[in-house]
Amino acid sequence: MAWNPAQYDLFRDERYAPFSDLVALGRFRPGLRIVDLGCGTGELTARLATLSPGSQVLGIDSSAAMLAQAQPLTQPGLTFRTQSIEAFVEATPPPRPSLAAEPRTEPAWDIVFSHAALQWVDDHPTLFARLIRLLPPGGQLVLQMPSNHDHPSHAIVRDVVRSEPFASQLGGYLRRSPVLPIHHYAELLFRLGIPRPTVIEKVYAHILPDAHAVLQWVRGTLLVPYLERLPTEQHAEFLSVLSQRFAAAMPDRPYFYGFRRILIAAERPPEQASI
Ligand SMILES: C[S@@+](CC[C@H](N)C(=O)[O-])C[C@H]1O[C@@H](n2cnc3c(N)ncnc32)[C@H](O)[C@@H]1O
Repeated sequence: MAWNPAQYDLFRDERYAPFSDLVALGRFRPGLRIVDLGCGTGELTARLATLSPGSQVLGIDSSAAMLAQAQPLTQPGLTFRTQSIEAFVEATPPPRPSLAAEPRTEPAWDIVFSHAALQWVDDHPTLFARLIRLLPPGGQLVLQMPSNHDHPSHAIVRDVVRSEPFASQLGGYLRRSPVLPIHHYAELLFRLGIPRPTVIEKVYAHILPDAHAVLQWVRGTLLVPYLERLPTEQHAEFLSVLSQRFAAAMPDRPYFYGFRRILIAAERPPEQASI
């Protein structure tokens, strides 16, 4: 997808707000193997490396534009790679203690981290089963995903892309969030062998000047797949229709943009054999 680091960075402080809540749920310590799925511009990946000195930290992302910002942060123990999350989880063999002597193409990951990226990967039951298999006993998933899909900002976008002329221009494309209600993750992780997963949802309070700022916010994320598919000459009309709908639905100035996010920490029991 055509991610734009400059547009994404417009609300950098707000988008990074969940990071400190999330890392507080993880057991970061020196000498770990950490992968950051959908690392984007790599700034948070670099913070993970600082939190866990002497660790091997790898950031992966499918966007060349986002990774171009990350690459200059590379240093010993901190690397970045262009790869999709789907390809990464399929290509990484799960840890198999009984075959520990066999060479592996990838290490097992002590922490599989992801901040605001897994909402772009479909079929979370399958995804989470694969993520758990990346962990050795004692390894942790530490994840944050937006769950704001019922907010008017997101509902209006779904409505507009289903209306003409955009529905035809998009060939009927509509992206629904694959993010599940939080209790599904708790139950899913339990079924996957995690006895006490931490699964919480928090509303992050963002005070934005007005509805236009909300549109700028979603332009950096939610709108990316639509803008990529619409002919460039249609972008102005698309954004103008959204702007009118946003202004009508969110008239307050400043506008309180309550943004829901799910945070998950799930640790494989240390004594558990490989799943
Ligand atoms: C909202 S940004 C988050 C970036 C970073 N983790 C942060 O919190 O600032 C989402 C990132 O996920 C990446 N992404 C989306 N779908 C992906 C996929 N299927 N595989 C790998 N990366 C993906 C995008 O390229 C983008 O950099």
